[in-house]
Amino acid sequence: MTDGASVPPPMPRIAVLGAGHTGPVIARVALAAGYPVTIAASGDPARIALITQVLVPGAEPRWAADAVTDADIVVLAIPVHRFATFDPALVAGKVVVDTMNYWPPIDGVQEMFDDRRYGSSEIVARRLARSIVVKSFNQFGYHELEEERRPPGSPERRALGVAGDDPAAVKVVAELVERIGYDSVRLDSLRAGRLLEPGGPVFGASLRRAEFELALETEPG
Ligand SMILES: NC(=O)c1ccc[n+]([C@@H]2O[C@H](COP(=O)([O-])OP(=O)(O)OC[C@H]3O[C@@H](n4cnc5c(N)ncnc54)[C@H](OP(=O)(O)O)[C@@H]3O)[C@@H](O)[C@H]2O)c1
Repeated sequence: MTDGASVPPPMPRIAVLGAGHTGPVIARVALAAGYPVTIAASGDPARIALITQVLVPGAEPRWAADAVTDADIVVLAIPVHRFATFDPALVAGKVVVDTMNYWPPIDGVQEMFDDRRYGSSEIVARRLARSIVVKSFNQFGYHELEEERRPPGSPERRALGVAGDDPAAVKVVAELVERIGYDSVRLDSLRAGRLLEPGGPVFGASLRRAEFELALETEPG
């Protein structure tokens, strides 16, 4: 007989949607942290088979719908200007990590995201009403995300924010962040996640946990 308490739970399965600059890096660091990973672009997985083999060996290229079906965590790493045509039904019922930044010089002016009363992840969550949206992985350049990983306790370990309205989903994503190689700093709402966006106090900044928390606290509300 086996002792059930000693069997670790299976690692959450991750589907990365987006196989451009950011998606493959997130897929690669998640794989390195021990997560099973699938990756999809907007079409036939045959089109990303070679990229996947070279850049993310060990990840499985799939159609987006197939990747999402089995996933516990869906990482949305597509450009904001493609989001208006993204099908919300695809990720219904899933925890969705929104990595997207709205940056008009890059994305063009996107009417959906141009309402400055709301953070971009609040807008994403409103459209993905049947998903649980968590904002993270938007604060670093994709190349940094891989290079700056450090083990727990390292004095150089950077902090990465994780914001969401659902504490259980935030916890799952915070664990992902920690396992990949960052200290997670949890923010208790997508609204607060505006602090993680371009122009906010921690965006693009290389901060340890205490510095990161201080930067969030001292930001005028
Ligand atoms: N660049 C960075 O350093 C960085 C850092 C943090 C966050 N981000 C955010 O990450 C997102 C992606 O940026 P990127 O630079 O990686 O973009 P990118 O290089 O232009 O990649 C776009 C990818 O998204 C895929 N895609 C588009 N619509 C899709 C859909 N409906 N379903 C599945 N895949 C879809 C494209 O697939 P097809 O080729 O099949 O169209 C392509 O693989 C952006 O929102 C950006 O703000 C970027």
